[in-house]
Amino acid sequence: MSSVEEEYKSRTKRSAELFERARNAMPGGVNHNIRAFKPYPFCVVSADGNVLIDADGNRYVDYWNGHGALILGHNYPPVVKAVKEQVERSSHYGTFNECEILLAEQIGRMLPSAEMVRFTNSGTEAAMYALRLARAYTGRAKVGKFEGGWHGGFNDVHVGTKPPFERLPSAGLPKSELRNTVLLPYNDLNGVKRRVRGERLACILVEPMLGQGCVPAERGFLEGLKELCERSGSLLIFDEVITGFRLSKGGAQEYLKVKPDLTVLGKIIGGGHPIGAIAGPREVMQRMDPWKYQPHQLAYQGGTFCGNPVTMRAGLETLKVLEDKAVYDHINGLGARARRGISEAFEGKGVTVTGLGSTFYVHFKAGEVRNAKDVFKGDMDALWRYGLFLINRGIFGLPTHFNNISYVHTQEDITKLIEVTRLFAETVKTR
Ligand SMILES: Cc1ncc(COP(=O)(O)O)c(C=O)c1O
Repeated sequence: MSSVEEEYKSRTKRSAELFERARNAMPGGVNHNIRAFKPYPFCVVSADGNVLIDADGNRYVDYWNGHGALILGHNYPPVVKAVKEQVERSSHYGTFNECEILLAEQIGRMLPSAEMVRFTNSGTEAAMYALRLARAYTGRAKVGKFEGGWHGGFNDVHVGTKPPFERLPSAGLPKSELRNTVLLPYNDLNGVKRRVRGERLACILVEPMLGQGCVPAERGFLEGLKELCERSGSLLIFDEVITGFRLSKGGAQEYLKVKPDLTVLGKIIGGGHPIGAIAGPREVMQRMDPWKYQPHQLAYQGGTFCGNPVTMRAGLETLKVLEDKAVYDHINGLGARARRGISEAFEGKGVTVTGLGSTFYVHFKAGEVRNAKDVFKGDMDALWRYGLFLINRGIFGLPTHFNNISYVHTQEDITKLIEVTRLFAETVKTR
């Protein structure tokens, strides 16, 4: 057993006991497979601001922030106040309510391509219904998605998430359904053009920054996809579940100045509560309008908790805070410092740091990282050891996943992150 693992186990004995119980009660002990890191995840009992506290009383500066949903950190006071007020009125109406209008209008004001919005309960659902909308609107069946892209675990897009891309990442995926998915190479416009030739796609679904490995779209790539979609009558859909309201108040589309036809949102817009959304121009979005379309033309969408008032109010309070540019100056400044500081700490050790704005990812490989193949060429075992080393010193990022910074992180947090990284780098051989 490695020494980082021994140290981890000695600090998390209560978590180990709880994880035994968890594995008995839930498959794998978790409710999202990526949370199950080796040797076992520590069990969180509470969180506040930028800190997570586990069952053994350990405190961690949190660079995971609930899968990147908590851009204002845990329990941000105005958000908590709105949630408390709403819970006292009712946690769930299951009917048309004013809270959903307010959040939809707020998103419409902030996100460049959003004239109308439909809410779902997760990013997965939003991506799923966005594909249905694109298919209903264009009358076409096939969809393009990128190697390494993660849009949730539904059948159409649960392919090609990790190399080797031809191997299915799950059982239970019927080949008959996957025939409509065309897998595309990220940051390779000519490769995309070759693969889509003659395909008549309903849409191309793309993350403006590949979440797995925080790989930004290169200059011209998204613009090229937009042109390609325009020429071929396909819709360009940005999956901004991570980048939406994270890179800037108008998401990646404002940050990178490319407007998609449709946008898939999630995470941040729920202010820490379950959410997803599809946003876009009236012309396309109204295909979901049951007053306008007969069932055979309509892109149907719905769900028990969609437009839930607690989520809507938490999301609205969050987005109001994000109207202030100072938030992005702060988090993007800390992000740039973290990426620079970690890079410098690993100088000469064959490590590459990527990310945009307040996100970062450490690749244990030298040279450029342009796509998911490059991401998985990195030494994942070294990345896991680095993750556990940080955890043992009170810094948490979900090992081998993307890190993100919230508004309540401080310069001192980043200083500590860089210092602890330097200590770890001393254990890595120079290349
Ligand atoms: C880019 C992207 N799209 C979609 C999803 C799915 O969102 P959810 O986990 O809310 O279903 C995620 C989740 O991490 C994501 O990162």
